[in-house]
Amino acid sequence: MELHLDGVGSLQRQIYSALRQRMESGVLAGGSRLPGSRLLARDLGVSRGTVVAAYEQLVAEGYCNARGRAATRVAQTLPRVRAHEGRRLPPAVPHAIRWRAGDDAFLFDLRSGLPNPADFPHAIWARLLRAKLKQHATAAFDYPHPEGLPQLRQAVASHLQQWRGLPCGPDRVLITHGSQQAFSLIARALLPAGLAVAVEDPGYHGFSQAVRAAGVAVRPVAVDDAGIMVDDIRHGDLSAVYVTPAHQFPTGVLMSAPRRRALLDWAENAGSWIIEDDYDSAYRFDAPPLAPLKQYDDTGRVLLVGSFSKTVFPDLRLGYVVAEPATIEVLSLLKNLDDAGSSGLYQAALAAFLDQGHYQRHLRRSLRHLARRRGALIDAVVEHFGDRARLLGAQSGLHIVVDVGLTAVQERELVRTARSHGLGLHALGAFSQSGMLRPGLLLGFGRLEEGSLQRAVALLHRLVLDVQRRDAGGRRET
Ligand SMILES: Cc1ncc(COP(=O)(O)O)c(C=O)c1O
Repeated sequence: MELHLDGVGSLQRQIYSALRQRMESGVLAGGSRLPGSRLLARDLGVSRGTVVAAYEQLVAEGYCNARGRAATRVAQTLPRVRAHEGRRLPPAVPHAIRWRAGDDAFLFDLRSGLPNPADFPHAIWARLLRAKLKQHATAAFDYPHPEGLPQLRQAVASHLQQWRGLPCGPDRVLITHGSQQAFSLIARALLPAGLAVAVEDPGYHGFSQAVRAAGVAVRPVAVDDAGIMVDDIRHGDLSAVYVTPAHQFPTGVLMSAPRRRALLDWAENAGSWIIEDDYDSAYRFDAPPLAPLKQYDDTGRVLLVGSFSKTVFPDLRLGYVVAEPATIEVLSLLKNLDDAGSSGLYQAALAAFLDQGHYQRHLRRSLRHLARRRGALIDAVVEHFGDRARLLGAQSGLHIVVDVGLTAVQERELVRTARSHGLGLHALGAFSQSGMLRPGLLLGFGRLEEGSLQRAVALLHRLVLDVQRRDAGGRRET
């Protein structure tokens, strides 16, 4: 028998694998005889003991049968091992869980949304973490509280009271593994499968995908320059609406006061939830952050979701939900099933960071740095694009939206070309929930310093002209 050995591992393993492969591919059919061990050893130039050991392994695993001195034969039914090799996994990722944040590296990364490591007080954080590591040494041998470390729940409640004007006690706070877990818990615990949830269009995929993954349908509702169009929510039964009132993601619009009132009235009348994502409200440049809807919530229909991803760092994976104590209890029971609570060490360090005033100082300092970068970005856009650029949503957050007169289709082409030039950016179209594309480019300024922002916008300008020229050329040819 000619047997091709792959050279990987011991000779015994190579003989075993080569024979097994032949059986699995049907070359050696069920019932057929394997060559005598002496013969095969001679053909392969190995010791007979090596072949015997390989045969014994195949017999032990059910690939072959051997009775007394009779020849070893291939089993009629081979063991089923395919599931272990992944063939039985679903062939494609289901649509509901396809979303994932991008992780490519760029020379200039203008994609929205992350804080700058240079702005963070690393030494203070390291000191707090070291101190908590010592204090937490015994507590670490118990399971954490599923609703969050009591000190952190208290610290978050006090912070929200002072900074967001929200009357709030620790029993109204659930600590989560980032807002993403909050969305997933809310979807599974509070949103029935039979009713849809309204989402902003364009809007945050992280929320809509969490809801779809829970088997709940989403209904995209357009956003204008006052926020989500509340009139369009009134038709049909909805269990909830998801909004980003303090800084709509991604358009940057602040929800107007009449729209806020209308939304609260709708939720009260319909008995539906408002999921208020307060992800980056801390970064408002020319005025204090807008008050959260939760402040005007008389009936407990607003679930405020917050995150430390933008204000501390995303790897912390800490966020929170503010709701009535009974709602917090339901969510924390589900969190307990999910992960039995978030690790206490980071929570303890974060509680101290808030309690000792470092968080608040860090926010003030970051805001100054961000304002400087935002100014540099706006100056560069005006310098290169002049009045052709329309700026939107520049009052707060970590990105601005710029309409430079391209169509949404041209913008898609621009994002692709920019990527190959090392420039990372998003178009509003990437956040469409309904397939309706609206033009606008998201330019994030959290990470880049002035010089890089200048160069990035100069490159962007050149690429925009290229896309326009190519498009005009293409049209002339047709
Ligand atoms: C609209 C919105 N909400 C929430 C988050 C934060 O999510 P997490 O707390 O899971 O990091 C982000 C982050 O990009 C976001 O853009």
